[in-house]
Parts: sequence; C-alpha cells; structure tokens
Amino acid sequence: MQAGGVWRSCIAPIWPERMYTEIMSERQKVLVTGGAGFIGSNFILHWIANVGTAVVNLDLLTYAGNAGNLSRVQSDARYSLVRGDICDAELVAGILREHCPQAIIHFAAESHVDRSIAAPGAFIQTNVVGTFTLLEQARIYWSGLDEDGKRAFRFVHVSTDEVYGSLGLEDAAFSESTAYAPNSPYAASKAASDHLARAYFHTYKMPVVTTNCSNNYGPYQFPEKLIPLVILNALEGKPLPVYGDGQNVRDWLFVDDHCSAIRTVLEKGKPGETYNIGGNSERKNLDVVTSICDIVDELRPSPSSPPRRKLITFVTDRPGHDRRYAIDASRISRELGWVPAERFESGLRKTVAWYLENESWVESVRTGAYMDWIRKNYQERVTQ
Ligand code: NAD
Ligand code: DAU
Repeated sequence: MQAGGVWRSCIAPIWPERMYTEIMSERQKVLVTGGAGFIGSNFILHWIANVGTAVVNLDLLTYAGNAGNLSRVQSDARYSLVRGDICDAELVAGILREHCPQAIIHFAAESHVDRSIAAPGAFIQTNVVGTFTLLEQARIYWSGLDEDGKRAFRFVHVSTDEVYGSLGLEDAAFSESTAYAPNSPYAASKAASDHLARAYFHTYKMPVVTTNCSNNYGPYQFPEKLIPLVILNALEGKPLPVYGDGQNVRDWLFVDDHCSAIRTVLEKGKPGETYNIGGNSERKNLDVVTSICDIVDELRPSPSSPPRRKLITFVTDRPGHDRRYAIDASRISRELGWVPAERFESGLRKTVAWYLENESWVESVRTGAYMDWIRKNYQERVTQ
C-alpha cells in the first residue's frame, strides 16, 4: 500500500522533509485490534513475515486473548501491544494520534456462539459498541488526514458468514448479496457491526471494507471451539461432544488462508464493498470429528485403548443451531485474485500436529476460567 498522505499528515510537524521518505519506507504501520486472539495473532505473524512493516496490537486480553501467541515477535521492534478496550474512545484516539496507522484491521470481538447464548451482554458491548467506538475514532482521525492520506487509509472490518443465517442442504452458498438473517446473539451482534461499518462508508465515505468469512481452524485456536476441543479431548481419552445429530455443515478455512485473504482485501479491495471468504471445504461435524480421531490415533497411537472414534458422544443440541454454512467465494477470487492454498485434509493434519507439539501453550490457556466454562457448557448438556 502507498501511505504517503497518512504519514505526511502525521509526521510533517515533527520530522524534517529529508527524513520523511526514510521513515515512511521503514514504517507503514497498521493497527490490529484483537491481535492476541486466534485469527488476529495468526494475522500479525503473517504480516510481519510477509509484509514486514510495523503493527500495533490493541487487545483487552480477555479469556480468549493470549499475549504468548505472539512470543515469536514480542521483542521485534516492529511489534507493540497495547492492552486495552476498543470501547475506550480516549484510548483509541490516543493510539491513532501516536501511531498514525495507514490501516486498521479490526478483529477484536467476543467470538463464541455458545457463550453468546449463555451471556449475550458482552457480545453487544464489544461487537456493537466497541466497533462503533472504533469506527467513530477512526473517522475523526481519518478526517484530519490530507487528501492522499484519506485515499490511502483503509478500515478492514473482519466479520463472519453467520450473519447470513442458516442454509438448507440444497441451497446455494452465501454470496455478498444474500440477505442478512442472523440467528444467535453472536451473529446478531456481528450483523449490527457490519451495518455500522457499511454506514460509515455510505455516510462519511470513510474507506471501509468488510469481509465475511467461514469457520477457521489452525494453530492458536482457543480450545472452546470444535476442532481444538476435540483434538485435546481425543488425546486425553475424554468424551468428544457432538451437538445434536452431528449432521450440521460448516465450510472450513485454514487460518493462514484467511490471513492472506484479508491482506489481499486490504491491498486491492474496493472501499464500501464486502467480500465473502471461504475454503470450499464443506464438512459435516461428525465427519470432522471422526477425521480428527483417525489422525490422533495415527500420530499418537494408544494401542491399549479403543480407537478414539469410540469417544464420540452425542449431546443436547445448541439452541437455534444453524444447520449449514457455505460460502461462495467467487467474487474475491474473480476480482482480487485470491484463492485458498490449503486443502482441508492437509490443514487438519497440520493443526492436530501443532496441538501435539505445543503442550505448553495448551496448558497456558487452560486456566481456571476455561475449566469453569467447559464444566458449565457440557454439564448442562445431556448425553443423547
Ligand atoms: P478470538 O475470540 O480468538 O479472539 C478475539 C480477541 O479479541 C481476543 O484476543 C480478545 O482478547 C479480544 N477482545 C475481546 N474483546 C475486546 C475488547 N473489548 N477490546 C479489545 N480486545 C478485545 O476470536 P477469533 O476467532 O480470532 O475471531 C476474530 C474475528 O474474526 C472476530 O471478529 C470474529 O467474529 C471473526 N471471525 C472468526 C471466525 C472463526 O472461525 N474463528 C470466522 C469468521 C470471522
Ligand atoms: O462461521 C464462522 C464462525 O465459526 C465464526 O464467526 C465464529 O466466531 C466461530 O466460533 C465459528 O462458529 P461455530 O459456532 O460454527 O464454531 P464452533 O467451533 O463453536 O462449532 C462448530 C460446529 O461444531 C457447530 O455446528 C457446533 C458444533 N459443536 C461445537 C462444539 C464446541 C459441537 O458439535 N460440539 C462442540 O463441543
């Protein structure tokens, strides 16, 4: 991305013109929110490795955020972490003034559907009020840039396919023109945030681009979500909880592919547009769980125990459980040239291997609060 205007606006009063070009080439900073969570931390690692310019990470480090996800870059001068809340307007304004980012990539959210059913309030606060706060502070910052800076600036709002609701088995996949029909408090809060992002482009012409992505999997995913939860339970010989009949379908995308898609949208996406991102990998939950069992059996054999498939336990369904998600990602492919690189089978194997090799990470995120959530969520479900 070219960042001339943004930087000129921010540094002109401080730096003489001679140094301006050098500084600009060294530091075209981006602000990432939620960068110590699953996708955000993968994105920062991907950004430092592939783009190499500076990143400021604003993250509250809730139960889902773990600064250790970024231990590989924590002493890299290009990376800095601000622990704070996206709902704190003064803090956000200060970060924008200090760092003059040329883009904001907004991941921070409450992200787990089951938690949104148990306690929706935090989802409204972070996903709706937080996104509004960020958009509004971004607008104030963006309005103060010169014309080049305004044109170069991007606000990438990272959202989900869940805003589109649920598909029947024969329905066409979600496209960018599918009507919104969110079904869980999480999905509704993300839908609200998408509408705010849209309004900031439409009303103020701030260059906002929104992405709606399908289910991610890969390293550093918090083990409340299906794939890491099943990997860890399978390893430990615990029951593998499958909601309902296990026939719900999700469209899986390896997290590094999501990161490259967001980068592509940041570089080439058209302001005011939305892009669906998906992996062309629809799988039934039960098939995902049995595949994990087979990979764990192979990579960590336990000859004295029955095959891990025997641990599969059908439990009470999630209320309002969406039956099927599927993404039509033809637009981002046709217009921006992005396609996923990873196949589901190879990505799943890499993911299982990562959890086997990273026991200390697993231990560090399984705190008392995590164990309380697991007890609450699964004790309330009856075995079917
Ligand atoms: P995550 O739960 O792993 O991480 C969320 C991060 O946001 C955490 O680090 C947390 O500390 C931070 N955070 C929460 N509230 C905050 C606040 N008020 N202020 C600052 N930081 C806060 O989530 P994820 O799975 O990495 O998802 C990231 C984004 O991608 C979310 O917006 C989610 O809706 C979207 N998304 C996720 C998926 C998926 O499959 N995981 C798919 C599509 C879209
Ligand atoms: O589609 C994108 C969304 O994918 C993101 O927006 C969300 O942030 C992310 O959490 C994910 O939502 P899901 O609800 O699809 O993911 P989860 O891993 O919680 O569940 C995947 C499927 O597995 C879903 O159909 C519910 C089911 N499930 C989940 C858990 C935790 C089970 O059968 N058993 C379980 O124990």
